[in-house]
Amino acid sequence: MSEQIRVMIGEAETDKRIRELGAKISADYAGKEIHMICVLKGGVFFMCELAKRITVPVSLDFMSISSYGDDIKSSGVVKITKDLDQPLEGKDVLVVEDIIDSGRTLSYLLEILKGRNPESIRLCTLLDKPDRRVRDVHVDYCGFEIPDEFVVGYGLDYAQKYRNLPFIGVVETN
Ligand code: IMP
Ligand code: MG
Repeated sequence: MSEQIRVMIGEAETDKRIRELGAKISADYAGKEIHMICVLKGGVFFMCELAKRITVPVSLDFMSISSYGDDIKSSGVVKITKDLDQPLEGKDVLVVEDIIDSGRTLSYLLEILKGRNPESIRLCTLLDKPDRRVRDVHVDYCGFEIPDEFVVGYGLDYAQKYRNLPFIGVVETN
C-alpha cells in the first residue's frame, strides 16, 4: 500500500489567504498589541506565517496539550503538558490553531484561557470543518472552510508525518 498526497489548497492560495488574514487582523487590532498563543505542534507553521503578515506589535507564547486517555472524544478535556510562559492578564489574546474539527479541544481550552483574565480573547484557525462540529466554538478568523476530509500539511500531521508540506493535502492510499 502506498500513500499519495492530493493537493486540496495549494501553496500560493494558502499564502495569499494568510496575507489577507494578517491584513484584516492588523486593521482590527489597530493601536493595540496582540499576544498570539499557538497550540503545539499543529499550529506552529500557521502561527509563524500569520505573525509575519501582522503589522501591529506581536508577542508569542506556546502551549502543548494531550488528551486524558479517550476522554477527549467525549468531553474535550485535555491535560496541559506545556503551559504558557506568560500570564494573560490584561492582554489582547489571539489563539492560533491549525484546524477546528469537532470543536471539543478548543471549547475546553478557551474556557481555561478566559479564566486567566485576558482583556480580550479571539480565535484564528487556518482550517475549519464545520460539518464535524459537536461543540459550539466561535471562530473569529478562518482561513478556509473545508469538507470532511482528513488533511495534512502546513503543520497538520498523519502519524507525525507531512507537517512540513507547504500546502494543504489529503492522504490517499492505494
Ligand atoms: P477537535 O477537538 O475535534 O476540534 O480536534 C482538533 C484537533 O484534531 C486538531 O487540533 C488536530 O490536531 C486534529 N485534527 C482534526 N482534524 C484533522 C485533520 O484533518 N488532519 C490532521 N489533524 C486533525
Ligand atoms: Mg491542533
